Amino acid sequence: SEDSLLDTFGRRARDLRISLTDFCNLRCSYCMPAEGVEFMPRDAAMSAEEIVRFARIGVERFGVDQIRFTGGEPLTRHDITEIIAGVAALRPRPNIALTTNAIGLDNRAAKLAAAGLDRINVSLDTVNPDTFAEITRRPFLQRVLAGIEGAKAAGLDPVKINAVLLPGVNDQQAPDLLQWCLDNDLSLRFIEQMPLDAGHSWDRGTMVTAADVFALLEPRFVLTPDEAPRGGAPAEKFRVASREDPETILGDVGIIASVTRPFCADCTRTRLTAEGRVRTCLFSRTEVDLLAAMRAGASDEEIANLWKGAHWAKLAGHGMDSADFTQPQRPMSAIGG
Ligand code: GTP
Ligand code: 5AD
Ligand code: SF4
Repeated sequence: SEDSLLDTFGRRARDLRISLTDFCNLRCSYCMPAEGVEFMPRDAAMSAEEIVRFARIGVERFGVDQIRFTGGEPLTRHDITEIIAGVAALRPRPNIALTTNAIGLDNRAAKLAAAGLDRINVSLDTVNPDTFAEITRRPFLQRVLAGIEGAKAAGLDPVKINAVLLPGVNDQQAPDLLQWCLDNDLSLRFIEQMPLDAGHSWDRGTMVTAADVFALLEPRFVLTPDEAPRGGAPAEKFRVASREDPETILGDVGIIASVTRPFCADCTRTRLTAEGRVRTCLFSRTEVDLLAAMRAGASDEEIANLWKGAHWAKLAGHGMDSADFTQPQRPMSAIGG
């Protein structure tokens, strides 16, 4: 496409992450307070038709080739199948992915795949039921595991697992979680916790770092860096073997070290919140309201120009290391990871 989403640091966004809702049926401690947050009113969220129109503008004008739906929990949107089908009909057809907690996926995975969903990433921090209930404040581990089975049965490939490790909660379970993922043919990524929780309780000093993850895994596993080019991907990938039999590759593991090894310089992402506002970064301090423009009757051209203008102001990085860093007002659930 002749147009692009460029910023002043020479990066071009081709991955579009769209939050479908800020609502969620879990209450993960690193994301939301126990009582939840004040969720947005229903009509503030983009409709299916509005979402597909934004996706079309991204695909046709900016060369977006990868669209990921996030939340909150995107499966709490009852029109998600229609949204996926609408985006799958765009040309050139983008790759379509979903980040979900997998609750209810057992009954819906086949329909989502048939509508055009290509890949799925499931958030799962532990396979211990008590620890799961402690982190998410809901006793739904079995429903998540059933959802993962459903995704595999529907032929979604790969199914990736995202795990956030919390010190003194699930960090010591990291090797067991990896073994479980290897046994079940799932691609696990450990994510460094970022300061995006509604309770503002993130602590740089005690968070589990990429270095901690290596130290936790190394007694049981041999990790070999994957030589494949990483592009703008958040995860550094490793091939995994057991200590006893280092020659046999059992699968892979990724580490998303947003805090200690930031990848902002190669960022290829642009985001829409569920309310249809552009965020150029998880940590943006500003948003541009594209949905208001669309509802006021703006043309594709006008919407594209607003989007480009927003993107031009994208900062170099998340700025977590700077002395005057403050956490964004919005929690993760309202940004869309
Ligand atoms: P793949 O295309 O499968 O690699 O997906 P992904 O890893 O980009 O997406 P996913 O939604 O599974 O996110 C995994 C973790 O990476 C989450 O904690 C995200 O918040 C984090 N992540 C994704 N994009 C960015 C980003 O631009 N910046 C930072 N700091 N973290 C990101
Ligand atoms: N830091 C890092 N990752 C987070 N996620 C949610 N909140 C945070 C946080 N504060 C993860 C979820 C999900 C992904 C989209 O983001 O576990 O897998
Ligand atoms: Fe829900 Fe995801 Fe936030 Fe957990 S991290 S409360 S699953 S939106």
